[in-house]
Amino acid sequence: MVVGSVLVTGGTGYIGSFTALALLEADYKVVIVDSLYNSSQEVVNRIELICGKRPHFYGVDITDEAALDKVFDEHPDIDNVIHFAALKAVGESGEIPLEYYRVNVGGSIALLRSMSSHNVTNIVFSSSATVYGDATRFPDMIPIPERCPIGPTNTYGRTKSTVESLITDHVEAQRRNADKAGRKEDGEKWNAALLRYFNPAGSHPSGVMGEDPQGVPYNLLPLLAQVAIGKRDKLLVFGNDYPSKDGTPIRDYIHILDLARGHLVALNYLRSHHPGVRAWNLGTGKGSTVFDMIRAFGDACKKELPYEVVGRRHGDVLDLTANPSLANKELGWKTEFTLEDACRDLWRWTENNPQGYRQSPPEEFVRK
Ligand code: NAD
Ligand code: WQD
Repeated sequence: MVVGSVLVTGGTGYIGSFTALALLEADYKVVIVDSLYNSSQEVVNRIELICGKRPHFYGVDITDEAALDKVFDEHPDIDNVIHFAALKAVGESGEIPLEYYRVNVGGSIALLRSMSSHNVTNIVFSSSATVYGDATRFPDMIPIPERCPIGPTNTYGRTKSTVESLITDHVEAQRRNADKAGRKEDGEKWNAALLRYFNPAGSHPSGVMGEDPQGVPYNLLPLLAQVAIGKRDKLLVFGNDYPSKDGTPIRDYIHILDLARGHLVALNYLRSHHPGVRAWNLGTGKGSTVFDMIRAFGDACKKELPYEVVGRRHGDVLDLTANPSLANKELGWKTEFTLEDACRDLWRWTENNPQGYRQSPPEEFVRK
């Protein structure tokens, strides 16, 4: 039995693919649109390998409203959207800001317009902890609650906060219009979840799905994985002069399966509570330094991982640790996996798929 239908934009990407899997496992129908700009269509096969169900896939650019319209026309049962498709490289966003605004903001406008013309009124949006910027400027706001004032410090983060405002304004206007028109049914009104994720980590425990960034990765864990597998000599540690226990910055690393499940429960909440716009942090509430991460991943792969401390990276902040109590309370969602689980699963994925999705899935899994 299908419980609902979801359009997942960016659904072949890292977080989108795990969310598509979680939705299929929870008996949602899933329709993915992705331009494959930073992902591979092989993901669709891997999702099917794991759960036995295949999502629909369309190679569509999110900025192409007419193409989105066609997908909604072909699947009139779609009643929800989870919106991942975006450009996400912080450094690059400062170099080509117009492209970041075109895709992240322009793409969201095209999506909201297409949803409106097809009466699809629930949207879950991939926001980011990066919207908080340097939260240490409010010392009583670490770990960071949702009421912490936002203040992104880079172009990428500003595209995310802009889309948060865009969605909020649109949903509130649509709800006012529905009230004026006397539409009383909750199901006829717009709802949005703005999910601010902290640092996603790990892979599927099977070793069949994981993060496969195209080109050179810039996030800590994929880089550590490349060091461990021998693709890179050492990790460059960006500064050890921060006021933390060992001088390196603190982040909240959340297992990708917990993050994916966060989307499922947020969507279920929108569908059952019709709350209008809500923002939730998805994090563990536990901070780890860069040196903690080198140790944890080294333990998982049983290797000494070489590193060299270099200068700070421009734009990095000391501490981004979530206070996830709102999501714990309202969504009944809590992280279940540990940092050790994330490191173990990432290592299994890396060992099984040194070429990422550009190779066949691991043998044992196919034979099962
Ligand atoms: P990802 O790059 O793996 O996934 C994004 C997907 O969007 C990719 O499959 C890419 O091909 C697709 N895409 C890009 N431009 C597109 C376009 N114009 N039209 C259609 N598809 C397009 O990234 P991810 O890590 O899975 O991130 C997913 C979302 O979560 C993004 O919105 C990102 O900003 C947000 N986010 C990521 C992190 C993180 O650390 N990974 C943290 C917070 C928020
Ligand atoms: C983590 C820690 C680095 C690489 C970014 C985005 C954020 C969100 C998640 C999308 C930091 C250190 C890293 C390296 C290092 N994405 N590091 N050497 O910066 O917390 O967040 O990804 O929304 O918006 O800004 O993640 O993985 O890049 O860095 O020392 O080669 O690892 O300084 O302390 P970050 P990250």
